[in-house]
Amino acid sequence: MQKRALLYEGKAKRLFLTDDENLVISEFKDDLTAFNGEKKSSEAGKGALNNKISTELFKLLEANGIPTHFVEMLDDNHMLHTKVDVILIEVIVRNIATGSLSKNLGIEDGKVLPFTLVEFDYKDDDLGDPKLNDQHALILELVEHQDELDKLRRMARQVNDILKPYFAKKGLNLVDFKLEFGKDRNNNIILIDEISPDNCRFWDMETGEKMDKDRFRQGLGGLKVAYEKVLERILEK
Ligand code: TYD
Repeated sequence: MQKRALLYEGKAKRLFLTDDENLVISEFKDDLTAFNGEKKSSEAGKGALNNKISTELFKLLEANGIPTHFVEMLDDNHMLHTKVDVILIEVIVRNIATGSLSKNLGIEDGKVLPFTLVEFDYKDDDLGDPKLNDQHALILELVEHQDELDKLRRMARQVNDILKPYFAKKGLNLVDFKLEFGKDRNNNIILIDEISPDNCRFWDMETGEKMDKDRFRQGLGGLKVAYEKVLERILEK
């Protein structure tokens, strides 16, 4: 499958049309951004690591009954996937408090939450991705019905129920993560985007070491080594 016209360029990926109107190709870039694009950098090889990690995790989720846009990894930096209408809601799942949750609500960093928290952000960079409640999402017509919001939450919890124990077995705490969803040509809601250390937080269970994009956000260094370790643990049987 060949890349055709560039459809869209985002912060971490470029999206290309293909000769099949139902399929598109994502090119994973080495660019890193944080704080809504205010902090920028680049790390050679980061895109390929995220492509490989996402490929493994999409395969795992598909095998466990979660519909995703994944079709196949084409090469180090390219993934072939289904074309969808993107739902402009970022679904954030949290098992442990950190980041904006700790900052905004004063919950101690590292506190294990009494239950898994699922939140919605409006995917709109100009507005700074504000928090959404269900009524906001319906007023903005980001989905058609309340049922679809319920479905996003249900699917996000199912993803967590698969990934959290999977990473625990590999010695990593899945602290929190962000998911995106879209509607395919049959109007089915499917998981899209990527699942990688760019949009998940992983903490080593023994050392507490951060193995995700917080290494960049917090200027800790060693980002690529951390992403490589995440991929190694995923590939360990
Ligand atoms: P959060 O603590 O809300 O954000 P911040 O990065 O500002 O501390 O992030 C929760 C999780 O969701 C974390 O794993 C990063 C991910 N996330 C994204 O991938 N993109 C986003 O735009 C946001 C807000 C979060």
